[in-house]
Amino acid sequence: MTNTMKVTGSGTIFVEVDHGHALLVLYDDVIEICDMWIDAGYRRMGQGEWLLNECLRIAKSLSYKKAVLHVDIDNEAAISLYEKRGFRTMGREYHMERTF
Ligand SMILES: CC(C)(COP(=O)(O)OP(=O)(O)OC[C@H]1O[C@@H](n2cnc3c(N)ncnc32)[C@H](O)[C@@H]1OP(=O)(O)O)[C@@H](O)C(=O)NCCC(=O)NCCS
Repeated sequence: MTNTMKVTGSGTIFVEVDHGHALLVLYDDVIEICDMWIDAGYRRMGQGEWLLNECLRIAKSLSYKKAVLHVDIDNEAAISLYEKRGFRTMGREYHMERTF
């Protein structure tokens, strides 16, 4: 697969590939992978796994020892992807919001 990748930002890193993106948020001791997205017409072709691998490669290159993320409990595709790449569930959190 060919993919062009663009990495921008500081404090956050936006990782953009041809048909998707992810946002990395840099904390002191962990890196958070947010907003993983592959365009609907390009799913199930290995691009999500490629993008996640790139995020992990970037995290390691910045000397992070741990990556974290949040995923909806019913998002089977994403959970399967994350588990395949070694993520394990750690506890449960409430989703909180408010309107303005
Ligand atoms: C989750 C997402 C990024 C996966 O991207 P993708 O390019 O389709 O995934 P890949 O083709 O690289 O698949 C890698 C692995 O993901 C899992 N997976 C992907 N799609 C799946 C599906 N529909 N059902 C079950 N598992 C799935 C599988 O484990 C797969 O490995 P396999 O091919 O050996 O079975 C994509 O579905 C997406 O953008 N979804 C909408 C946004 C979203 O939910 N993002 C996650 C936010 S936490």
